[in-house]
Amino acid sequence: MPADRLDLSDRTGLRRVDAKGKVTGATIYASDVGAKDDLHAVPILAWDGPGRLVSIDTDEASRTPGFYAMFTSVDVRDGVGPGTFLYDGGHFHSSFSPLASDEIRFSGQLVGLVAATTPEAARAAAALIRLRVERRSAQTMTRTVSTNDIDTYPREGLDPFHPQEPGHTTVEAHYQTAEQFHQALEPYSMRAAWNGTRLSVHNGSQWVVGEAMGLAEALDIPVDDVRVVGPAVGGAFGSRVLLLWHVVYVAAAARQLKRPLRLHVDRPVMATLGSYRPRSMHDVSLSLDVHGRIARHSHHVRTQTSISDVVPLRGLEYATQIYEIGETNYRESVVRCDVPTPGFMRAPGEYPVAFALESALDELAAQSGTDPVELRMNNLAPTDESSGGGPVHLKECILRGAELFEWAARDVRHGAMTDPSTGETLGWGMAVAHYPTYGGGLTRCRLSLSPDGDIRVDLAAHDTGTGLASAVALEVARILGAPVSSVQVGLGDSALPLAPMAAGSSSTRTAVAAAADAARKAVSLRRHHPELQTFEVAGEHVPDGMDARQLAIAVSGRFAQTGAKARTEGGTQLRMSVGAHFVEVGVNAMAGRVRVRRMVGVFDVGRVLHPSAVISQLEGGMIWGAGHALMEDALMNPATGRFLGTGLADYHMMVHADVPLTTVEVLDKPDPLSASGAKGAGEIGVVGSSAAVMNALHAATGVRVRRLPLRPTELFAADVQ
Ligand code: MOS
Repeated sequence: MPADRLDLSDRTGLRRVDAKGKVTGATIYASDVGAKDDLHAVPILAWDGPGRLVSIDTDEASRTPGFYAMFTSVDVRDGVGPGTFLYDGGHFHSSFSPLASDEIRFSGQLVGLVAATTPEAARAAAALIRLRVERRSAQTMTRTVSTNDIDTYPREGLDPFHPQEPGHTTVEAHYQTAEQFHQALEPYSMRAAWNGTRLSVHNGSQWVVGEAMGLAEALDIPVDDVRVVGPAVGGAFGSRVLLLWHVVYVAAAARQLKRPLRLHVDRPVMATLGSYRPRSMHDVSLSLDVHGRIARHSHHVRTQTSISDVVPLRGLEYATQIYEIGETNYRESVVRCDVPTPGFMRAPGEYPVAFALESALDELAAQSGTDPVELRMNNLAPTDESSGGGPVHLKECILRGAELFEWAARDVRHGAMTDPSTGETLGWGMAVAHYPTYGGGLTRCRLSLSPDGDIRVDLAAHDTGTGLASAVALEVARILGAPVSSVQVGLGDSALPLAPMAAGSSSTRTAVAAAADAARKAVSLRRHHPELQTFEVAGEHVPDGMDARQLAIAVSGRFAQTGAKARTEGGTQLRMSVGAHFVEVGVNAMAGRVRVRRMVGVFDVGRVLHPSAVISQLEGGMIWGAGHALMEDALMNPATGRFLGTGLADYHMMVHADVPLTTVEVLDKPDPLSASGAKGAGEIGVVGSSAAVMNALHAATGVRVRRLPLRPTELFAADVQ
């Protein structure tokens, strides 16, 4: 086995460097950081929005033992300035500073903080605060086209299709996906402390450098006076990429109170304080010609956004990079609603788009009597391995997946496959997965060797649970010929060498490339100066295709401007990770139960940088997609835009007992165009997985569910045997 390849069957031999701390409780999260003198705050939310905040009655609350202070729009007037939204070139999740006025733009908006001497006192006081809100009715997203639609793609009008030739099979369907909340194990709890004019913030983050810059902007202080530390991150998935306004307010309140301030966030608050996946609606049509080739594809996707910010979804154009399609007609719009600004959640555009596309392809296969595997194999776009163009290695993923799943044994008649031991009708479905290979950001690191042989690598990157630290340690150990246990990786601190946000499935790849650069320098230094007991070297990775102007922006830390721009302008991302999902569902009509029994996923994510980390990212994504198909639904009252069931008790998601038997394989083929050989692995696992579940459900029952998640009535009201 060549030295740069790993034994992928060894899932225990390469343990994650963060595992022991996490399972023993030794790991320090932002919400664990504190001192005796700290004050404790909780957020106050206006669930009665949208409307106008008339008054906040704190009389009773202020008599609570331990009550210390309120922080409201009155306090913000002098202490907090505006912050720039990501797509305007800044670091903020939203351009709307919710405490800047009396305006309540959506139900659940933050309107203040209450600070007390203990977290319990803060919660007790918060419960006694009375808000008077002048309500207005809410605009929310409906199926009908509203005047609030804003087209985000394409900028110009659409070309009409040519006249259709006879004999085509055509599917026209409408698909919907529900909102999904972020409920990472670690909520948005944090701490801010001032030392004179210098601010330090402890916050679980996917972008410590960006947060520091955003805080400096809104608090009007030099960026060098801000340090953001996210010591460990208890789950992120896109919720912690951008600066959230409560972080600014906690810092401003701490400055005003002249005391360190900790914020404690409960589950229901997570729903409206930060990012979430917006509802999406898709009108898709697909035609297959008499030769079994996809002749036409039109797709119009609408997602909801807030009154404050236009958040483009992106993702439609990838269909043409996976499949060879005669004519296409794509349109993407957002609908301005009285809801919080949506944002990133694992494969933000690719996931909902793939649900619609991969479902429609399955409908086309069923209608034309084609095997869904064959339909895809017959229509794959051409590939060019040297430029990374097209769905490189997708064929292998599909064929290997079909083999592992034993797809060939499929009986296409609905209800023909059963499991007598459980009384279930079985159905098999499949779907394709893809995720673009983003270049990622400029990444620097520092590698130091101590006299006792310990190696340290430090950089302002993040391990959000994806395994970045383990991958960096493994690569450095491999190059230096040292045991993995001798490598310490320091992350999550804006004072460390510059690294980009942990987003777009790119930061592990760039961190490993930068660390490898440093490690190779260390090897050469050791060769030339064997007498050195201790030394420090710098490593750097400049993403391909980054021009001088982009590099200058990246050096200044404003990485998002280039990355976000590429997304909004539909920048062509030819290379991608690819994969195939195969799913078996079991339907028990008597019990009214649907479950996913097994999932097989085979992916090409380039070179595998850390086997157990990569496998669990992919597996986690697959399971999440199955959860969205069958469970996850952020219910919203359409009259008020108010989210319901915002705690973990009533927001259903897959728990261990729901998780099916999963098999994940990766091809482990180094991408010749990637410095580390890797492509993205963090997000692709979820893409297509819910479509595969619904396709399997259709195979079992003949019922097509086009709206996520499944409501049992939709299935069992239909004629199921
Ligand atoms: Mo990811 S949704 O780019 O954090």
